Amino acid sequence: MSTTKKIFGFMLVMITTFTVLLSCCSATVYKVGDSDGWTAKDDTYYNWAKGKEFHVGDSLVFEYDRNVNDVTQVSGALELEFCDSSSPKAVYNTGNDVVTLKEPGYHHFISSNQSQCTLGQRLDVLVVHDPSRPIPPPLPRKILPLGQIYKVVDSEGWKVYDSEWSEAKQFHVGDNLLFKYDNEVNDILEISGDLEFKSCDPTSPVAVYKTGHDLVTLTEPGVHYFISSKTGHCEAGLKLRVVVSVSKLSPIDRLVRWLRIFRLHHH
Ligand SMILES: *[C@@H]1O[C@H](CO)[C@@H](O)[C@H](O)[C@H]1NC(C)=O
Repeated sequence: MSTTKKIFGFMLVMITTFTVLLSCCSATVYKVGDSDGWTAKDDTYYNWAKGKEFHVGDSLVFEYDRNVNDVTQVSGALELEFCDSSSPKAVYNTGNDVVTLKEPGYHHFISSNQSQCTLGQRLDVLVVHDPSRPIPPPLPRKILPLGQIYKVVDSEGWKVYDSEWSEAKQFHVGDNLLFKYDNEVNDILEISGDLEFKSCDPTSPVAVYKTGHDLVTLTEPGVHYFISSKTGHCEAGLKLRVVVSVSKLSPIDRLVRWLRIFRLHHH
């Protein structure tokens, strides 16, 4: 490595450090609905969001009863208006979700429980990008090394689990799984452990995907488990286990990852 390259690398590290540290402390965390939390109340969220200014990097905390609700992020005002959760951008359902606003523009959230949404459990927030604020760190996805995209399971799509398919492959952090399936009869849950995987237990998923065309980035090393939540499907073999190893990260990638963790712990 030439001296110029070294100096350039060092400067890049310093700029990244500075940017990440600055944006760490200016982000605001909002509890949606304040003490009411995320529930069905007429016009609550319209009034709640009024007068607030949301910035890129701010977070929304949704607290709710996960037995009757979830947080479904939908793509537009129309879906919000008609409580249409059929093609969500993201679904959160732990009952206590932190959603970071990563892009400027409108963000729409509803409950996928139609009656709750109709009663007023819907929120849209306008996220502004203020040029006087430091630019927030890039999305985690972007700082991950550009990985491979694996189609699950090759030409068959997400239909029947084939343990040889995943065992024959070496997955690295940053790689992606592309799931294609009929979203009227299937979905994908990422679940947390071997026990849930063996017993096809869908009750506490880490993530839910249901667009029928989902690109899942493997952001953490370790074992990842995916099942279908539809009755009988997982039992019939619709499940996938992949082992992800730490990848060949460059020193800058590693620093940025470390800063990200640091930032999470100091919020
Ligand atoms: C939707 O919410 C209502 C309460 O308003 C609840 O009784 C019902 O069980 C919920 N439905 C689902 C599918 O969770």
